[in-house]
Order: sequence, then C-alpha cells, then structure tokens
Amino acid sequence: MSSARYYADPAVATQFATELLMKAGLNEEHAKSMANCLVLADIRGVDTHGLARLPQYIDRVSNGRVNANPNFKFTEKTPVVAHMDGDNGFGFVVATRAMEEAIKRAEIYGIGLVVANHSNHFGMGATYVMQALEKDMISLVFTNSAKQMPPFGGKETLLGISPFAAGAPSGKEVPYILDMAPSVVAKGKIRRAARRGESIPLGWAVDADGNPTTDAEIALNGSMAPIGGPKGSGIAILMDIMSGVLSGSAFGGEVGDQYKDTKPQDVGHCFIALKQDIFLSAADFKARMDTLVQRVHNVTPAPGFNEVLFPGEPEHRLGVQRRKEGIPYADAEKQMFIDIAKKFGVSELPLADSALSLA
Ligand SMILES: NC(=O)c1ccc[n+]([C@@H]2O[C@H](COP(=O)([O-])OP(=O)(O)OC[C@H]3O[C@@H](n4cnc5c(N)ncnc54)[C@H](O)[C@@H]3O)[C@@H](O)[C@H]2O)c1
Repeated sequence: MSSARYYADPAVATQFATELLMKAGLNEEHAKSMANCLVLADIRGVDTHGLARLPQYIDRVSNGRVNANPNFKFTEKTPVVAHMDGDNGFGFVVATRAMEEAIKRAEIYGIGLVVANHSNHFGMGATYVMQALEKDMISLVFTNSAKQMPPFGGKETLLGISPFAAGAPSGKEVPYILDMAPSVVAKGKIRRAARRGESIPLGWAVDADGNPTTDAEIALNGSMAPIGGPKGSGIAILMDIMSGVLSGSAFGGEVGDQYKDTKPQDVGHCFIALKQDIFLSAADFKARMDTLVQRVHNVTPAPGFNEVLFPGEPEHRLGVQRRKEGIPYADAEKQMFIDIAKKFGVSELPLADSALSLA
C-alpha cells in the first residue's frame, strides 16, 4: 500500500464535512458543530477519530439509528448541576452542548457539572476539554462506550474503552490536555491499521480466544488489552459510573455498538467545568501552571528520549504544524472522500500532493 499523503486545508475539510452532514439530514448548526469536532481530531493527529469515520456516522444517521434532529432537554437539578437528554443525537453535538452548559454554570458558581444520556459516540475526548480551555476553564470529561474489554481477571468483554479527558489552562506554556483510553491503545488505531492493511504491535489486543495478535483484522474480532491490568480496568469502570450509572444511560456492557447494533447506543457522558481562579487569581494560577510545565520540560530525558513533554503536547505540536501545512490523508481516506462526495452529490474535497502553506 502506498505511503503517499494528500493534504487538505482544515477550513475546507470542515466545510466538506458540514455539507455531507447536512445532506444526511442535520441542521447547519449541528452539522458545523460535528464537522468541527471531526476536523479538530485530524488537526491534532488523532486521525482515528476524524473525518475517516464520516461514512460510518452518515450510515447510522441515514438509516435512523441516530436522530438527525434531536430535541435536547435540560433538567436543572441544583444551580450547578444539570441533566441533559440527548434524544439519540450525535455524541459530538450532545457533548458540545453539554459542555457549554457546564461552562455557563461554572462562570457563575465556580463549578458546573452536566451529565447526558441517550447520546452516541462523541469521538476525541480532548475536543470538549479544548472547548473549556477556550473559556480558561479546568475540565474533566467522562464518557462510556460499547463493551470491548474484559474487567481485570475476566475472559468476556464487558467494559468500554472509554477515554478519560482532563484539561487545565496555562499562561504562555502549553495547556494540560490528558486524553486517554484505559486500553493500551484506542480501538480506532486498530481500525485504522486494518483500513490501511498494516499490522499492529504485540500487546495492543488479543484474538477471540485470548491469544496475542499482530493482525489488525483478527484483533477487531477479539478484545482490547487494558493499561496496567486492574488499574485500566478500574478506570474503565469509573467511566461507566460517572457517565452511565449516574446519568441514567446504558451501562455495564449494555451501551450499543455503533458498528454492529441497530438499536440506539444510549451512551452517557459527564462534563465538569471548573473556574481557574476559585482559590487564587487567574494570573497566579496560570503562572503556577507555567512553572509546572517548565519543571516537567526541564527533567533530564531518559535514555531513548530527546525531551520530556507535557500531556497533550505531542498533539498540540501536530496541531500547530497541520494548521500551517494542512491535514495529510492516506490513499484509503482519499478514495473514501471521492466515493462519499459522489454518493451525496457534493463537491470533492480538494487535496494537494504536497504540504500546503496556509496563513
Ligand atoms: N469516544 C470514545 O468512545 C473513544 C474511545 C477510545 C478512544 N477515544 C479517543 O481516541 C484518542 C486516542 O486515545 P489513546 O488512549 O490511544 O491516546 P494516546 O495513547 O495517543 O495518548 C494518551 C495521552 O498521552 C499523552 N501523551 C502521548 N505521548 C506523550 C508524550 N511523549 N509525553 C507526554 N504525553 C504524551 C497524550 O497527549 C494523551 O493525552 C483519544 O482522543 C480518545 O478520546 C475515544
């Protein structure tokens, strides 16, 4: 398979995805919101959760498994806490609205917490952390997801490999953005390897009989390996408590699988936003964050490392580069964009054979 890359301007890619999602029945506001989330993942190099997933999302909404026009309902539980019914809308749109509501409450009361049920897969967890960072907020983001991993010591899958994400603003240094699945890798990385005909490293997943495998296709039918045994398993259970048990959504292995099930997924999420200046001034908080980043950077690299990075920094760097050079897509994605544009009668996504030079 060729290793050629084709570059898209992120703004044009967002417009392309917006048009496709509108053709699939979403209103312009929701289509734009979801397109922004998908392109942001590609910009940050989390291309397992970017535009490559469009066909599958569009299939699900086209056959009525996701509601194209959800009617969100908010129930105020206390001044700082609200519940959102996502009405089976796309997780991207539900999550963006829910975080917006959590931030609104935090702006007034210092902290805001919103849980959502009746939602769907929301993609890259960092998306909603970055939404909070735009308002200078610290945040915690939880979601649950379809079962992919056994609990520690078990043979059958029961837990999702649901990402935990958290963020905190800094001053002139990079912000803290942790976004991690409790499995050794996100399943999207195995799906991407399968799509590109590549093998996967040992230790990422096991086959259906529990044997380690490097075959991405076989791994897709097996299960994912948790990070740190009982620790990864324990975090996956926490994700289910905060998102599923707490919100009233499906939990404990009952979240629908977006690739296999025809029923609504009923994913749950939880978003917590916290003002940075509750205890200290904003300037003090940011200066202290900058000191923390610098102290991490100043640690002597261990053998095999050139530098020590802050959580989120690898994606931040790629983001800076891709906003200038465009997003590189592989042959498989290029062909998919051509096919999907033809299918829905929208203009093809313009792709360049070499890096762009964007303002
Ligand atoms: N919505 C879902 O159901 C779902 C499920 C699984 C994963 N995902 C998404 O998949 C994506 C990938 O997840 P993952 O667990 O494979 O992430 P990952 O292993 O690529 O990264 C995990 C974290 O480690 C940090 N990191 C990586 N290298 C580093 C370094 N050298 N120094 C400092 N920090 C470093 C990253 O910034 C990130 O915060 C995430 O965006 C996640 O939200 C979504």
